[in-house]
Parts: sequence; structure tokens; C-alpha cells
Amino acid sequence: MSRRDINLETKLIHPSGVANYNQETGAVNVPVYLSSTFHQESFDTFGPYDYSRSGNPTRQALEDTIAKLEGGSRGLAFSSGMAAISTAFMLLSAGDHIVISEDVYGGTYRFVTEVLTRLHIDHTFVDMTDLKAVTQSVQANTKVIFMETPSNPCLKITDIKRVVQIAKENNCLTFIDNTFMTPLLQRPIELGVDVVLHSATKFLSGHSDIIAGLAVTKNEELGNRLAFLQNSFGSILGVQDCFTLIQGIKTLGARLRQSSDGALKIANYLKDHDLVEEVFYPGLEGHQGHDIHLEQSKGAGAVLSFRLPDRKITKAFVEHVKIPVFAVSLGGVETILSYPTTMSHAAMPDEEREKRGITDGLLRISVGLEHVEDLIADFESALTTAKSKDKSTIV
Ligand SMILES: Cc1ncc(COP(=O)(O)O)c(C=O)c1O
Repeated sequence: MSRRDINLETKLIHPSGVANYNQETGAVNVPVYLSSTFHQESFDTFGPYDYSRSGNPTRQALEDTIAKLEGGSRGLAFSSGMAAISTAFMLLSAGDHIVISEDVYGGTYRFVTEVLTRLHIDHTFVDMTDLKAVTQSVQANTKVIFMETPSNPCLKITDIKRVVQIAKENNCLTFIDNTFMTPLLQRPIELGVDVVLHSATKFLSGHSDIIAGLAVTKNEELGNRLAFLQNSFGSILGVQDCFTLIQGIKTLGARLRQSSDGALKIANYLKDHDLVEEVFYPGLEGHQGHDIHLEQSKGAGAVLSFRLPDRKITKAFVEHVKIPVFAVSLGGVETILSYPTTMSHAAMPDEEREKRGITDGLLRISVGLEHVEDLIADFESALTTAKSKDKSTIV
């Protein structure tokens, strides 16, 4: 088998496509180099590492892994997904403009609206599924088009290739938040995207234990500029968390396969439930952008959302469901039930949230590794209770 034939599942464990072990000791796990500084043998020429903010061998192993998985030229590890995203935005300067998905993650929304505007970097939110609107939003000073697909929490699908084309026609860079898909399901660099960003807190680490962010650039020049900003800004990922993330990435294939299978079953179950008004999951045939998603990715992932009639029924459902944790975040081994209105999108004003379909009845599920039949039985029981409670107060 030539190296080009190596599957991504194999690369998760052996990023270069051959047995991955420490050349000096044979250890199958990367050593954790807990060292802030590095002795220099020569007075005149320094070695590859001098100070761990600028570079560390454990972090390097993680950065090389994510670069290989995304098929990019350079990977960089940050202290959080938001650190990766905000450092990438530092590629811009005062007077520049960003076109950005209107249903972007709440923290990105906050950074763009409350921090970048203060630095005179302007933005236009746009429905990225509407390519005409994307073209119309581009201005003479637009430098970046920022996508998130599937988007959060309604899993709207953006046609990545077409947006890249619009960006190229207008000399803009494209950034994408690939958190929901991971490189295993979606490889935006192959579709022409310039910078891929991750909240590695989610599926990549997979165990709801660390906060981490990753960025991968398509070309080296952009990689060097971002590495300069990573070092200048200083929000690097600590080495112990780098180690934990490398370990998490190794099991991503098995985890994502099982969680995605469960998500499809749960989406189909919810779709047929009479209390559920809408289900948002790219794996469902009727989902907006289903065909585009199938074309540009290898699966629908493990996150879905659904709409219940109102806040009261939603509250009753959440209070009676037993297996999922009710929490922010996603991508863990445990199923996580979230309420976007007060959790991921709390940073968004009510009016903006409702415009984006994030109503009081919307819940998001990140499906974990529990047996799917147990989850469905749990949901069935909680929905039945929620329904009966609703009726009992009406009477
Ligand atoms: C899609 C998406 N992007 C970015 C972030 C921010 O990542 P972090 O919490 O690791 O800073 C999140 C966090 O929930 C997210 O869901």
C-alpha cells in the first residue's frame, strides 16, 4: 500500500501511515515534555526548541497530527477553540471586513460583534445557504468569509466549494469551523478552504475532559503568519492537554462511527414522534442541504437538534430524561443534552436568536456511546411524561 492510500482511521493512530512510536525509546505514546525552556548546545545556533510558548515537542506532535489529518501544511494548537478562532481573526487589520454565517457559534458571534468591531474590523452576518446573499455581502474591504457547516444548532449546510469560489473571485480568505464534523467526516482544505478551525474540546478529544483548540492552514505562508500570531498572542495548549488530545484523537474513528449511527436512529425516532415539531439532522433526507452535505462530507455526525412546542414542554422533557447529562458542550462519550437559548447561544440577543430559529422549544443532542436503545427508551418515557404534564395543566 502506498502512503497515499492510507485511510484516515489509520492516520488517527499513525499520522505518517507507519507505526507511530518514539524513535529513542520505542514508547508507543508521545513523551510529555514538561519543560518551559530548552538548553542550547551551541552559542551561535539554537536547536529546534528554545521556549515552550514558541514550540514544544509534545505540542509539535499534536500539531503535526492535525495538519496531516486535515491535509494542510501547518497545524497549531491553542488553549481553546475560541483562542484558535480569535487568533485566526488577528490575521485581519483595522478597516477590514468579514462575511460570516449568521448562525455561527455564540462565542464566535460575541468575539466578532464585541471585540473585532472595537478594533474597527467590521462584519456582515449572512445566511450562507443563500449564495446570492453571500456574493452581495462581499465588500471591497472583505478579507475573510467565515463558514460553519453544519451550523450550530440548526445544522444548516453551506456549500463549501461554492463559497470558496466566491471568496477566490473576490480575493478573500476562507475560514471554516469544522468542530462538528472533524477531519474524519469533512476535509475542507481539499475543497479549497484556507484555514480550518476546531474546538478540539469536542469530538477530537472526545471525553469532556479538556478545553482545546486547533487550527490548520492550507498553505505554508499562512501557517507561518498564524504561528507568529500564536507565539505573539501566547494562547498555546499546555503539554499535558496536548497529550490528552493526542490520545483522544486515536479513538475518534470508533467513537464517531458509533455516535453517528446512534444519532441517525434517534433523529428518525424523533421525526416520527407527534410531540416533536421539527428535527434538524443532515443525515435525514428532508434536511435542508442534505445532498450538498453528502457530497462534501463522509457522514452526518453525532449532533442533532429538535423542536418541541414550547418552553414548558421542553422543561418537563429535560427534567424527566435520565441518561443524558444536561450541559453545554458536545462531542463527549456521554450523550449531552443542551438548551441553546441559555447555553451555546446565551451570548446572542433574544431577537437575533429567534431570527435564527433558536426558539424556547429547541434542544440539541450530542449523541454519545451509550446503547442507542437505552437512549430512545429514555426519550420516549420523558416525552410521554412531558406530554401528560402539558395536558394536565390545560385541563
Ligand atoms: C462549533 C463551535 N466552535 C467553537 C467553539 C468554541 O470552542 P471552545 O469552547 O473550545 O473555546 C464551540 C464551543 O462550544 C463550538 O461548539
